[in-house]
Amino acid sequence: MDVITKRAEKVIYRDGDNAVKVFSEKYPKSDILNEALNQSRVEETGLPIPDLKSVSVIDGKWAITMEYVEGKTLAQIMEEDPDNLAKYMDDFVALQLKVQEYKVPLLNKLKDKMNRKISSLSGKIDATIRYELHTRLDGMPKHDKLCHGDFNPSNIIIDNDGNPHIIDWSHATQGNAAADAARTYLVFALKDKELADLYLDVFCKKSDTAKQYVQQWLPIVAASQLVKRIPGEEDFLKSWVDVVDWQ
Ligand SMILES: Nc1ncnc2c1ncn2[C@@H]1O[C@H](COP(=O)(O)OP(=O)(O)OP(=O)(O)O)[C@@H](O)[C@H]1O
Ligand SMILES: [Mg+2]
Repeated sequence: MDVITKRAEKVIYRDGDNAVKVFSEKYPKSDILNEALNQSRVEETGLPIPDLKSVSVIDGKWAITMEYVEGKTLAQIMEEDPDNLAKYMDDFVALQLKVQEYKVPLLNKLKDKMNRKISSLSGKIDATIRYELHTRLDGMPKHDKLCHGDFNPSNIIIDNDGNPHIIDWSHATQGNAAADAARTYLVFALKDKELADLYLDVFCKKSDTAKQYVQQWLPIVAASQLVKRIPGEEDFLKSWVDVVDWQ
């Protein structure tokens, strides 16, 4: 099997027509099974996502095998062809809005997931701010749209015919589309604020959403990203958690 890419906790291989995602021993089995279950549930919508083939143990490590998509990630394409960035961003947002048209009632609920993440931050964020975050979250409208949870250009593969395939459904939930947009905005902003602002403009225009509506989610999605404890992100994320002048 050829290595496609390596991450801290997983390696993605190509094996003929298949892509095989092999997880490290440390990775919780329940998260791996949840990722496979999410992917199979979303597959039933008919959205363009790789077919899940199997979940297995390879040399003592859990692995998810799916259809291999020949092509380039949208992230690669955006980087190689910056002159057409506006068009790629347009297509990217159109695809996200297409995802959000679907309902997958058996997926976990976004609000439950966020509430759990905020609660898990004791020690990282003080109780007063956690309380405010929980209150803010509880006040958000309760929606049930399909949310990818990590919709960003590295999770979209454009095949050789120019068709998109959406991968990496480990964070998929049902919930509020603006929360999913806030998460995408955050992922862009961690690397490139200008690109993030372009994204937010396009998303809000295309979906006729007020920017404030997405921005209300920013402290919540920033808090949920803090849970990952990625070195170098903490100060930036904390500044987003603190956007409101907490009393
Ligand atoms: N089915 C597939 N076909 C082709 N390439 C794939 C496939 N699945 C994953 N890849 C490649 O592996 C990379 C990482 O896969 P994936 O997004 O599922 O894992 P990840 O751990 O979430 O990584 P990341 O942190 O980059 O999001 C993708 O950006 C893509 O280049
Ligand atoms: Mg990914």
